[in-house]
Amino acid sequence: MQSYNFFFVFQKKAVILHTIYINIRMKIQIINGPNLNLLGQREPGIYGSESMDNCLADLHKRYPDVKIDYYQSNVEGELIDKMQQVGFFEGYDGIVLNAGAYTHTSIALHDCIRSLKCPVIEVHISNVHRREEFRHHSMISAACQGVICGFGLDSYRLAIEAMKELRIKNEE
Ligand code: DQA
Repeated sequence: MQSYNFFFVFQKKAVILHTIYINIRMKIQIINGPNLNLLGQREPGIYGSESMDNCLADLHKRYPDVKIDYYQSNVEGELIDKMQQVGFFEGYDGIVLNAGAYTHTSIALHDCIRSLKCPVIEVHISNVHRREEFRHHSMISAACQGVICGFGLDSYRLAIEAMKELRIKNEE
């Protein structure tokens, strides 16, 4: 009976240690594309009035054991350079990508995502499927692990959660 209990305590501790180990090791890069530097000021009726700085501060507080880096550019080639840097050469565990309008146009981003060693989760603040028809198609979804859209800035938190789950499943 006692050894039975010991087994369960041991198993529980192993699960906790495993989770801490995974979180400590995790490096996630959030990348925002064109016009997302204006978050909080740009079309607040669609994108809300919270800034990305606030959102990042919240994520850093929520996930102290996950290294969460942020990059934004209005330039397609710079987004590709950053994705290659972290997702191919620097061994990040995942990329959370809001490619903005390049989502709907960029074969170059699609090709880049396919060539990376880490998963990419496509994120949108607004529900693009409720908006203009030209936003209904994504050139990058097929190359991504999954898509989260329509939850405001909380879409980024949901993507981090999904990335952590993915990591745990891959480690099992
Ligand atoms: C967006 C949706 C895109 O259609 C748009 O071009 C953006 C932001 C979003 O987060 O909802 O710039 O990606």
